[in-house]
Amino acid sequence: MLHGDVGVELGRRVAAVVASVGAEITPAEALVRPSTRDGVDYQCNVAMSLGKKLGRVPRELAAEIVAGLDSADLVEHAEIAGPGFINLVLRREWLEEQASGLLGDERAGAAPVEHAHRVAIDYSSPNVAKEMHVGHLRSTIIGDAIARLLRFEGHEVIPHNHLGDWGTPFGMLIEHLLDDGAESVLSGHTISDLNGFYQEARKKFDADPAFATRSRERVVQLQGGDERTLALWQGLVDESARHFEQVYALLGVGLTPADLYGESFYNPYLAATIDELEAKGLTEISDGAVCVFPPGFSNREGERLPLILRKRDGGYGYAITDLATARYWTGEREATDLLYVVGSPQSQHFAMIFEVSRQAGWLTDERRAEHIGFGSILGEGGKTIKTRSGGSVKLAELLTEAISRAAAVVAERSELDAEEQAEVARAVGIGAVKYADLSGDREKDYTFDWDRMLAMDGNTAVYLQYANARIASILRKAGEEPVPGTPVVLGEPAERALLLTLLRFPAAVSAATESYAPHKLCTYLYETATAFSAFYENCPILAERTPADIRASRLVLAKLTSNVLTLGLSLLGIEAPSRL
Ligand code: ARG
Repeated sequence: MLHGDVGVELGRRVAAVVASVGAEITPAEALVRPSTRDGVDYQCNVAMSLGKKLGRVPRELAAEIVAGLDSADLVEHAEIAGPGFINLVLRREWLEEQASGLLGDERAGAAPVEHAHRVAIDYSSPNVAKEMHVGHLRSTIIGDAIARLLRFEGHEVIPHNHLGDWGTPFGMLIEHLLDDGAESVLSGHTISDLNGFYQEARKKFDADPAFATRSRERVVQLQGGDERTLALWQGLVDESARHFEQVYALLGVGLTPADLYGESFYNPYLAATIDELEAKGLTEISDGAVCVFPPGFSNREGERLPLILRKRDGGYGYAITDLATARYWTGEREATDLLYVVGSPQSQHFAMIFEVSRQAGWLTDERRAEHIGFGSILGEGGKTIKTRSGGSVKLAELLTEAISRAAAVVAERSELDAEEQAEVARAVGIGAVKYADLSGDREKDYTFDWDRMLAMDGNTAVYLQYANARIASILRKAGEEPVPGTPVVLGEPAERALLLTLLRFPAAVSAATESYAPHKLCTYLYETATAFSAFYENCPILAERTPADIRASRLVLAKLTSNVLTLGLSLLGIEAPSRL
């Protein structure tokens, strides 16, 4: 059985012929794609690009490729079309063998990568003393999905939650706390109180310059390690961390306290980071602050843009912390890939951080960084999201609402008992929120729409979950689990179409992983569920009139579909209950 993608395998064969006509190409450069034409499985477009490069007529080149192709085992026939497209039809027996071989494969045909990277991925990263809001939801969901995809591909993935637990806001929070004259209030504060507390402190900070100055001084004390200040700070951090853990548990996201690498974690590294940048001649003093001016960044007036490393008052900020982060993960932790799942408004910040990190030698061609940006979540009508009661949305409330709305959807058609329904409602509700976030191009904004995300048909989690549960129910009714090696017969076009879709799983996973684009996997899973529907409509499985060997074969196809849906959803962090 083939481990990996059929298109890549075909690409390898094409590349081998192309080598014999004197050109070096990679399997990917063979441009083999699944075809949308009736009766054609794959299409190879290499003759056009290669013809141009070699100064040859594409159709002739295509003919040579077809003649030289060593693929009798998997290709039934290859045909030249138009200016030099090669249409490939796969051998039915080969496809049938793949299907019966695939059954025992828990990776659904996807091979792990040959060279594993060590990936440090920054995601979620909420701020202490502020309730997590929908803005952090996207980072958490997208980051978690990307971490799962990379792990599945065989990479070593180290999540780090860059908690905003340091800096100016803490000066202001601690000062406000002290103004209230009660350090002890802290122990009685819940996070919701702290949220309001934050807003009060902020108001004072903006309105009262003396308070602002005190706050800044308090930050310096915090950074200097003043004990009383640190104790107050720790109280705020602990209370927040407990809140975040609840949200992660509700979301089914794998972030743990061990993954917390808040801004404060890098505090001991800041001075050395500045020293190193100074020693490398990258720093300048500007207005009394230590700055770097990475080349290529300027404002509208054409003035160079700085990253401020150390403020005039000696305080450190967001930029130096991110430089220390890059230095730490590439240096001490020897990560090969630094990924940052942070909203798109911070793209310039990261571009500047990466540029300075390259100048400093922390990032190289082998040690790379990427900002995985994303758009905002909008409420209905393009406005900010509101809860049922019209207030601003808190993440925990939003997720609870998702579960209760899902419960209503599930109850309508379920034969499960109350306890099972509650479990399923959680899977469906959380799945709906995650899938709505993951199924669109992450760079774009999207509208948060309960009805759409919980629709039983369309590209939604519940549609996929329902397709999967339907298969599980068929297998239960059949009273037997298909066993590996069961012969598969591809007599009907819908059977063949379904299998061809199932065989694209490895390609879908690599496409999603390569460009950090989970929506590509979503689209693929939706196509799989749709192909299954067509198969199910046209190819009766359990009907009396279905011959035993065909029934067994169709059960294999059904089981393979369920494997792909379950595995695919799990890579997105979404559960696939066997009953709905
Ligand atoms: N806490 C920040 C915020 O809420 C996000 C941190 C992102 N990560 C980083 N390394 N800068 O905006």
